[in-house]
Amino acid sequence: MTGFVVKPEPIEVPGLVHLHTGKVRELYRDAQDRLVMVASDRMSAYDWVLPTEIPDKGRVLTQLSLWWFDQLADLVPNHVISTDLPAGAPADWEGRTLICRRLDMVPVEAVARGYLTGSGLKEYEVSRTVCGLALPEGLTDGSELPAPIFTPATKAEVGEHDENVSYEEVARRVGADVAAELRQTTLAVYGRAREIARDRGIILADTKFEFGYDDGTLILADEVLTPDSSRFWPADAWQPGRSQPSFDKQFVRDWLTSPASGWDHRGEAPPPELPEAVVAETSAKYVEAYERLTRMRWL
Ligand SMILES: Nc1ncnc2c1ncn2[C@@H]1O[C@H](COP(=O)(O)OP(=O)(O)O)[C@@H](O)[C@H]1O
Ligand SMILES: [Mg+2]
Repeated sequence: MTGFVVKPEPIEVPGLVHLHTGKVRELYRDAQDRLVMVASDRMSAYDWVLPTEIPDKGRVLTQLSLWWFDQLADLVPNHVISTDLPAGAPADWEGRTLICRRLDMVPVEAVARGYLTGSGLKEYEVSRTVCGLALPEGLTDGSELPAPIFTPATKAEVGEHDENVSYEEVARRVGADVAAELRQTTLAVYGRAREIARDRGIILADTKFEFGYDDGTLILADEVLTPDSSRFWPADAWQPGRSQPSFDKQFVRDWLTSPASGWDHRGEAPPPELPEAVVAETSAKYVEAYERLTRMRWL
């Protein structure tokens, strides 16, 4: 069994109904039937939500998503209604809370990849395909793809793996029209974001979006283009043929799989607390990603 090492108790706020505890976010419904999304400082790795929190992480993810939603607003509408704190919410929710439209979520992780790594690389090594899409010979870990591709996955419960699926499978599940719109929008948004990141010396290797529908309109939801949903690589260190340094959980993953952690990520036992130095380094990485992408100072 994997999942939460320590199952969080949701905070109760008068006037809000708690709906769901995600890996990172707590979801509530307010009196106007809007979604209140609160990003915690929790971190997940290897299908576990770790017992140690990363200071500032929830705020960085929230502020970075807001910045991206603005950059993308002419391409696709998003779910954000307001950043006001709901009445009676704890002060600690400031900066990490979004009031959003409650959507009918499309049960697909809309992934775009411009580079080969991770689960894409694994499939490529076996079959020269990713999500069933044929790719040329000779690609390696970190290679740029001839063109960005849509590589959807099914969304798993906490503690389960997401699973890559073919476009045809998505079309079977959600219908051909929704699948087509999902692919088109995912690639358009990825293309825009990748240009913006490139200007800042960052390669957006791949990213995951979640979409929902409101009255027949496709809306960009969840978090967008954060280090939790994307692979960001410093462009000046990019070198295909090895795993790339990145602005994400790599630091934590490296420590968890090192002898220092004493933990077997393939075993049944829950992961240990992170050491202070790993926590500080990881928090700094999230802030660095925010500052480099937005060109604003994190206060
Ligand atoms: N506008 C929205 N309407 C309804 N659900 C949403 C919306 N935006 C995001 N969600 C859902 O909120 C949850 C966000 O919490 P998170 O901690 O990321 O959960 P997960 O463990 O499922 O990734 C996800 O399940 C996501 O699908
Ligand atoms: Mg999520």
